Amino acid sequence: MIELTDVHKAFGNNHVLRGVNLTVESGTSMVIIGGSGTGKSVALKSILGLVTPDSGKITLDGKDVTTGDRDAFLARFGMLFQGGALFDSLPVWQNVAFRLLRGSLARPREEAREVAIEKLRRVGLKPDVADKFPAELSGGMQKRVGLARAIAAEPEIIFFDEPTTGLDPIMAGVINDLIREIVVEMGATAMTITHDMTSVRAIADNIAMLHDGVIKWTGPVADMDNSGDPYLDQFIHGRAEGPIEAVR
Ligand SMILES: Nc1ncnc2c1ncn2[C@@H]1O[C@H](COP(=O)(O)OP(=O)(O)O)[C@@H](O)[C@H]1O
Ligand SMILES: [Mg+2]
Repeated sequence: MIELTDVHKAFGNNHVLRGVNLTVESGTSMVIIGGSGTGKSVALKSILGLVTPDSGKITLDGKDVTTGDRDAFLARFGMLFQGGALFDSLPVWQNVAFRLLRGSLARPREEAREVAIEKLRRVGLKPDVADKFPAELSGGMQKRVGLARAIAAEPEIIFFDEPTTGLDPIMAGVINDLIREIVVEMGATAMTITHDMTSVRAIADNIAMLHDGVIKWTGPVADMDNSGDPYLDQFIHGRAEGPIEAVR
């Protein structure tokens, strides 16, 4: 469904993506792992068109993502941004219903609010959270609100950028389980970025490891432990020694 072919992207002389090839099948959950600063977020943003690759091709259902109606394209996606990216000045329900209050997906305000409350409930938050502001919530609750926003318009494809970073292990486990449940129940295609190996095992059908601007290894999560790939082994076991230089 989503295919990246020989995607390159540099910022000045920082060559971040150096020929990324990756296929994500419809209805599956792909997790991208890799050290910080390797270009995981840039890769996701390239699919959405928030970053323009220098060369290469990205297709969704065989069609180039840079062609066609932009609003219709984006309406198929939900995204949980790294760091949450909630709007501080909007109450929680308007954050969750953001896409439902404007553009091609716009619905009457009351209806949008009801959807927001239903999605908040889906991620384990009570209706009284709807009228609070993001700053009044804990980190874990903010992540849940971000998750509720990502699923509010029932997208076919959901991107999760570091969904558990900054959370304690128990809250991270709750978010991982929620992501897995939601993806299965919605039949959505998911792409998740994480360096939390617990998250990988909880969420992934397939994994891809990004290093030195390319996908070093990709395959089913079940094959991860016996891949024979020194880069992947070093990463999943968190070893200081190996082909990946620890000093960057
Ligand atoms: N808009 C931008 N302008 C300049 N450099 C950027 C931009 N976005 C990302 N980068 C650089 O690209 C590299 C990869 O970033 P990123 O994809 O965010 O890494 P990560 O794998 O941690 O998500 C980093 O060196 C970062 O500084
Ligand atoms: Mg990132």
